Amino acid sequence: MAADPVLQIEGMSVVYDSTQGPLTALTKLDLEIGKGEFVAVLGPSGCGKSTLLRVISGLLPISAGTARISGEPIKGPRKDVGIVFQQPTLLPWRTVRDNVLVPIRAQRLPIQNYLAEADRLLELVGLGKFASHLPRELSGGMQQRAGIARGLIHDPAVLLMDEPFAALDALTRERMTDELQAIWMATRKTVLFITHSIPEAVFLADKVVVLSGRPGTKVLELPIPLERPRTLKTMASPEFGALANQLREMFSTLAAG
Ligand SMILES: Nc1ncnc2c1ncn2[C@@H]1O[C@H](COP(=O)(O)OP(=O)(O)OP(=O)(O)O)[C@@H](O)[C@H]1O
Ligand SMILES: [Mg+2]
Repeated sequence: MAADPVLQIEGMSVVYDSTQGPLTALTKLDLEIGKGEFVAVLGPSGCGKSTLLRVISGLLPISAGTARISGEPIKGPRKDVGIVFQQPTLLPWRTVRDNVLVPIRAQRLPIQNYLAEADRLLELVGLGKFASHLPRELSGGMQQRAGIARGLIHDPAVLLMDEPFAALDALTRERMTDELQAIWMATRKTVLFITHSIPEAVFLADKVVVLSGRPGTKVLELPIPLERPRTLKTMASPEFGALANQLREMFSTLAAG
């Protein structure tokens, strides 16, 4: 049991009503995330990772089991969840600051109370000088960082990230991973981070969860006891290599099974 659990999922299954009949995306899933914990989820394409995020954000009902945030069953769209998507999906006609404030508008909270916080978060993600710019005046990595600031603006209990760096080139992606660690260390948010990259998962997470192919269920939960901040040196260490290998082996077993 995680100390002070924020997210608790027990025996959860999710069945879609697809055009071809019922489609089980997740089955008998157990997952617990403690306050301030960074959990990475790895799993084959189509195993239900995005489905899991949809459930946690309250956009999709579950078919069996339980899913709770801060002890409360997830019943509908939740305000205490922040989401960072694979694409930054910024509104092109709004300034970067206004984009960060979108969740505040959506929740009809008083904008005035969040202006200083928007600027503080933009500083944190290295976009302090770009608050009044338009998204098209930012690089892809910068837009993704604006997306992270937007996910944090309402101080959510849980931050969900669905392959947030997938669209970036390899070098920008490495830099963003490093920056995300710095942001996480500064905010200590509870994070659920989906990725297809084993090194990215080991570098960032306190715990890596591996899901099986569809219907997805947990096949491995691997604690990552590496010291922080993790650096290039950490990535070159035997401990890092051993953890990454354990995950790789799990994947080859899954592929063979
Ligand atoms: N709206 C939907 N209606 C019916 N089936 C769906 C729907 N959305 C997803 N699925 C199915 O649920 C399964 C899980 O989809 P999901 O998007 O969660 O996978 P994923 O693990 O995020 O995959 P990827 O790594 O490719 O993003 C897939 O088999 C998919 O076909
Ligand atoms: Mg997905």
